[in-house]
Order: sequence, then C-alpha cells, then structure tokens
Amino acid sequence: MVVVMTPEATDADVAHVVERVESVGGEAFVSTGVVRTIIGLVGDIDSFHHLNLRSLPGVGDVHRISDPYKLVSRQHHPDRSTVWVGETTKVPVGPDSFTFIAGPCAVESPAQTLEAAEMAKAAGATLLRGGAYKPRTSPYAFQGLGVKGLEILAGVRETTGLPVVTEVVDARDVQVVAEHADMLQIGTRNMANFGLLQAVGESGKPVLLKRGMTATIEEWLMAAEYIAQRGNLDIVLCERGIRTFEQATRNTLDISAVPVVQATSHLPIIVDPSHAAGRKDLVVPLSRAAVAVGADGVIVDVHPDPETALCDGPQALLGAELRSLAQAMRQLPPVVGRVDA
Ligand code: E4P
Ligand code: PEP
Repeated sequence: MVVVMTPEATDADVAHVVERVESVGGEAFVSTGVVRTIIGLVGDIDSFHHLNLRSLPGVGDVHRISDPYKLVSRQHHPDRSTVWVGETTKVPVGPDSFTFIAGPCAVESPAQTLEAAEMAKAAGATLLRGGAYKPRTSPYAFQGLGVKGLEILAGVRETTGLPVVTEVVDARDVQVVAEHADMLQIGTRNMANFGLLQAVGESGKPVLLKRGMTATIEEWLMAAEYIAQRGNLDIVLCERGIRTFEQATRNTLDISAVPVVQATSHLPIIVDPSHAAGRKDLVVPLSRAAVAVGADGVIVDVHPDPETALCDGPQALLGAELRSLAQAMRQLPPVVGRVDA
C-alpha cells in the first residue's frame, strides 16, 4: 500500500502517518520527493484499512499495490471484457453494447413463460431470464419447477430464439442446468457458496454472478475469482441491491458499484433494478440510472399477469411500465455511446 501526501503536507503530517502505521504493527518507508512525499507501507493490509489513512491531515491519496483477486482484476487485463451468450444467436455483454435481459422471475408454466418471453422480446430484450430453481426465504413458498422448468425454458428458446439465463442453486444441478441453459445465474443468496461457484466455473457456460446482498465489492470480486480460477472467465457481474436500513425499497441499489467495479475489474457488469427495488414503479427510473452510470446491461422481471405471479409479482412489469422501459432501452444506450447490440 502506498500513501501519497499532498504537496502542502508538513513533516508533522508525515510523522503522524508513520506513527499510526507503526501503531498497528506496520512498517512505513518514507520517500521524500521534490514536490511530494510518498510513504510505502508494509504489513497487514486489513489493519491499515482501519486507520482511515485517507482522512489524516496531509494525505492526498492511498493506493493498494495489488488486488487480492488476480484473474478478474483489471491490473493485468486493462481492456474490459465482452462475454458472449448463446449458441445459435450470440449476444454480447460488454463495453460496446447494452444488453437488455428480461423474463419472468419464475417459470410457472409453458404458456406463462412463452407469453413473458414474447413480451420481453417485443420490448427489445435479447436474452430471456427465468428461474426454474427459486431460492426462497420460506421453504413453504414456490420453489420452482426444477427440470420441468428447464425444459420449458429450452422450448421457449426454440420458439423465440432468445438465449436463456437461469439460476442454479445447488452444485448437484449444475450439469442439468448447463445442458438446458445458455448462461448460469448465481443468485444473491449463493454468492459465497464457494463449492457452487467452483462447479459453475467448470460448467463450460457463461455465468451471471449476482452480488451478495451483504457483500462488499471486494468479496463479490473474490467470489468471481473462484469461478475464474476453475478456468471460466465468461463471468458477468450483476448489481442487484444491498441490504441497508432503508425500508422504502426491498434493497438499496448501489449504483456506485458499477463504476467502482469497472475501475477494478475487466468483467462486464449489469444491473437488476427489479430485485433491487422490489417495486415496479422504480424499475424504469433505476434502469435509466443503470444506463447513465455506464452499466453494460439490465435484467428485468416481466410477467403477463403479475397479480397471480408465484414469485415477486410486485416488481414485475406489464403494460405501460414495460412500454416505458422498452422506450428507455431503445433511446438511452445510444446517447451514452452504446451501439445497438
Ligand atoms: C427471486 O427471484 C427470489 O427467489 C425471491 O426474491 C425470493 O424472495 P422471497 O422468497 O423472500 O419471496
Ligand atoms: C432472481 O434473479 O431470480 C433472483 C433470485 O435474484 P436475486 O438472487 O438477486 O435475489
């Protein structure tokens, strides 16, 4: 870690930084330049974090020399990556496009899934989402149709041509999900299920890795590193909101995660405004925010009859909201330099 002092920093400021570093068992090496002083720190990085070095007088900036994640870091891979999803139709997710993914939260029946997929496609989506395995808070809630749901998704892909993104919640199901889907989703609840991450890393399919609802960005990137370490760098990150004290929304969309991740990792990052907000009225504004902040795409819940949805009906779009989302997805990405995917 390196502490860069401001040109105005005094000797006392420098001495204070050294004293704070040594107080937690670290060593500080001071290098005095013509304009600035730089202090190199050696020791336990976590204990340095607790020092709040950035807030000390005379400190201009603090840099970590190396990221704890390697394969997903931008340090050795400065160009941002594009992940391609699908076999017959190949859909890019990356810096040169804006990918719109939509579909039902859960696969409930062939008719409901097809109808939702047709709504998604008509709105401009190029990938279909839909859960056949649902990670529910309650064991009594609808858990998904399992293999039957995967078959429905594969059938709807045949009809619509939309490649399929679907969640896998158990390492034992990775193979069957990979046989039916084009991209495997790891949900918020399983972001730190390391055995599952390793299993999808070996699946040969692109992975959509959602942020754990209580995970820091670094923990999330370390989770991605588990997948990458198994030889799979086709990873797309998804910011879907984190738990905060705020009760007005289901989760708090951490929009700043998008540029923060893009600065540190080469992986594409998309936003899930539906699971973040939990409310359909916020999905369009948050989708607009996702485009504006530089996200590589959005993933949105749609349902032909949200009132009867077996999972997350209040956040599913239909009618006027979906039309408004379709318009935003058509108009906004080109404004921020994203070519039509
Ligand atoms: C969604 O797709 C999840 O399964 C859902 O958000 C789970 O939440 P719940 O089980 O608390 O309703
Ligand atoms: C989902 O997208 O179906 C889902 C369960 O989302 P999350 O893991 O973000 O809650």
